[in-house]
Amino acid sequence: MDPSLRHDKCEQANSTKHLSKQILAIIAVGSIILVGQYSLWPTLQPSYPIPVNFQMQEAKVISWTNWSDSTTLKPIKTTIILLWYWPFGESGSVSGNHCNDKYGIPNCHLVTDQSWFPKADLVVFHNRELVNGQRRLPLNLPRPKTQKWVWLSLESPPHNGNMRPLAGHFNYTMCYRRDSDIYAPYGWLVPSKAPIGTTVDDFIPKGKTGLACWIVSNYQARHLRTQVYNKLKNVIPVDVYGGARNKRISADTVLPTISRYYFYLSFENSVATDYITEKVWSNAFKGGAIPVVLGPPREQYEAVLPKNSFIHVNDFSTVEELGHFMKTLAADKERYATYFAWRLNYTVGGLTGWAERLCNVCPILSSLPTSKIYKDLHGWDWQ
Ligand SMILES: *[C@@H]1O[C@H](CO)[C@@H](O)[C@H](O)[C@H]1NC(C)=O
Ligand SMILES: *[C@@H]1O[C@H](CO)[C@@H](O)[C@H](O)[C@H]1NC(C)=O
Ligand SMILES: *[C@@H]1O[C@H](CO)[C@@H](O)[C@H](O)[C@H]1NC(C)=O
Repeated sequence: MDPSLRHDKCEQANSTKHLSKQILAIIAVGSIILVGQYSLWPTLQPSYPIPVNFQMQEAKVISWTNWSDSTTLKPIKTTIILLWYWPFGESGSVSGNHCNDKYGIPNCHLVTDQSWFPKADLVVFHNRELVNGQRRLPLNLPRPKTQKWVWLSLESPPHNGNMRPLAGHFNYTMCYRRDSDIYAPYGWLVPSKAPIGTTVDDFIPKGKTGLACWIVSNYQARHLRTQVYNKLKNVIPVDVYGGARNKRISADTVLPTISRYYFYLSFENSVATDYITEKVWSNAFKGGAIPVVLGPPREQYEAVLPKNSFIHVNDFSTVEELGHFMKTLAADKERYATYFAWRLNYTVGGLTGWAERLCNVCPILSSLPTSKIYKDLHGWDWQ
């Protein structure tokens, strides 16, 4: 039931009943605030941190919950987020109070039933299905004045298709770019002190047997990354897994495989602003190998990763130099370990899926621009 309706009924009650209801309400809200302060608080810490510049050493963490708002006894408005269809034809269930029950995010109703359209505060459209014609924007429906449409994509511009027909319909972008309205990174760092007594060596998987590996499903000769790989394999041994051309690898052997190598080639399929994907976060970092990155310039990596946690291909004038550096580094135990030092202060954060990403929009809604239209979405994506 809409909480504001409940409130109206409460207003209509006779005065004595009204008074006792008010007292009950004060007690109830009071205890919610108390409980909230002490038990809900940790779960409400932002799980999407504002991008941090790790050169500044200190991570800025903002708080997204203003508890003084709850003291006003007004029913708290529930935000309704409508996912118009599941990305990539995936399916999922968001029944019940999903955001609250699964992720501890209150007053946030994530729905996938299109009949919610007239009531939705946000309607989210995943780009792929729009540009390939599988889905259409509901331009025929009367759109509530305050409703915002969200363009969602985690792909780089060359894989986003022709977005020109989408011009003028969207209010917010949701992608990995730090300047998108709703920042949706592939991973992030969570400030977290390692237990006392932990040493850097504890983070380096034992039994490394190979120098470098690369897992690639979409192997194309025209990709810059393929050209770099072809040169690199002449300098150092590189084991390649995945895809039809290479050694097959199953999902559960990915991390143990990466762990056996000193380096993991976190080569992006395209070089685009802030396009830093699971190849760094879920592969190299989780697997315990140093990522050798090919992607946007070093500064953009340093905006989200510690400076000394990765090797950037652009740091070398030739691929031969890169190969020699990797060989030398692997042989120098002490220096190799310095690339893991950041793990004493941070762990890697990530999300479980689309539903969690969308629930995480609720806590930041009030910080989003109240009025915005993407008149040239295609141009924005490519800039
Ligand atoms: C929190 O909410 C109260 C009441 O709405 C407001 O006066 C105050 O400025 C808010 N604080 C912040 C930090 O937004
Ligand atoms: C970890 O954080 C401490 C301060 O809390 C700092 O002195 C130290 O240099 C940091 N270590 C790394 C490797 O960033
Ligand atoms: C959202 O975008 C639509 C379509 O361009 C526009 O009509 C509406 O005014 C925008 N809403 C806000 C709050 O900016």
